[in-house]
Amino acid sequence: MIGAKPRRILITGGNAGLGLALAKKLSRRHSLLLSGRKAREDVADLLPQGAGYVLADQSDPQLSAQALVTGIAEFGWDRLDNAVLNAGIGIAPPDGLDSTEAIRLTLDVNLLAAILQAQALFPLLKKSRGTLTLIGSVARSGSATIPAYAASKAGLHGLARALRSEWKGEVSVQVLHPGATKTDMHDKAGYDPGRMRSLFLEPDDVVAMMASAIAGRRSPVNLSWVRYLNGGAFTGRRL
Ligand SMILES: NC(=O)c1ccc[n+]([C@@H]2O[C@H](COP(=O)([O-])OP(=O)(O)OC[C@H]3O[C@@H](n4cnc5c(N)ncnc54)[C@H](OP(=O)(O)O)[C@@H]3O)[C@@H](O)[C@H]2O)c1
Repeated sequence: MIGAKPRRILITGGNAGLGLALAKKLSRRHSLLLSGRKAREDVADLLPQGAGYVLADQSDPQLSAQALVTGIAEFGWDRLDNAVLNAGIGIAPPDGLDSTEAIRLTLDVNLLAAILQAQALFPLLKKSRGTLTLIGSVARSGSATIPAYAASKAGLHGLARALRSEWKGEVSVQVLHPGATKTDMHDKAGYDPGRMRSLFLEPDDVVAMMASAIAGRRSPVNLSWVRYLNGGAFTGRRL
């Protein structure tokens, strides 16, 4: 590994979409532990060589936090340089109204799990004066048709602000807000963007902006078309 010092990086939701694209980008220079909801044997062929994998289903937020801590220890790590809390879901309400069950699941997976994971990972990040990165969304400022999703991402924004000041001098905290990106998330959500999908960003461009934002430790950062058109995928610090 030449250049930047190799880091120990945890990425949740690392078996698909943006998390997997980020893992592939970083795998040659850094040591990676990925987590997801699927069993290891179902995702093993997808993961970059050498990356560890831990099953941590965030629909049980508390168990997911414990699973990460156990998985990190079993992987032989006693500290973390970066934790990228990226796993997330959206659920498009079929008739425009979220069910209580769908709201709870969205908040559990996207927000409560991140809060509990952040708390659980703090001692490991502190040892390296590391960085906690929360993956939000530009939808956090309010997006029609996905109110629970928007609320969960607004919650992550507030969480990042709170922890950034609480953990100052010990662990850096940031929130990154991607714009709409061509992953399978919308299909899984039951939402068809139609022709709008052609305007979505490419995952590799979003993770290029994500990687340099992580290296820069600033917060909040929008990973949107505006940033992309300003060269955000090709400039900035290298992770
Ligand atoms: N794509 C976009 O347009 C967009 C825009 C803004 C923000 N984001 C955010 O970016 C992050 C990644 O999204 P993506 O587009 O890459 O979506 P994706 O392709 O659907 O990937 C989501 C990841 O989260 C995992 N996940 C879902 N539910 C989980 C659970 N209960 N427990 C543990 N892991 C779970 C998924 O695992 P499975 O494969 O097992 O489901 C997958 O690894 C999310 O936080 C999303 O909100 C995405």
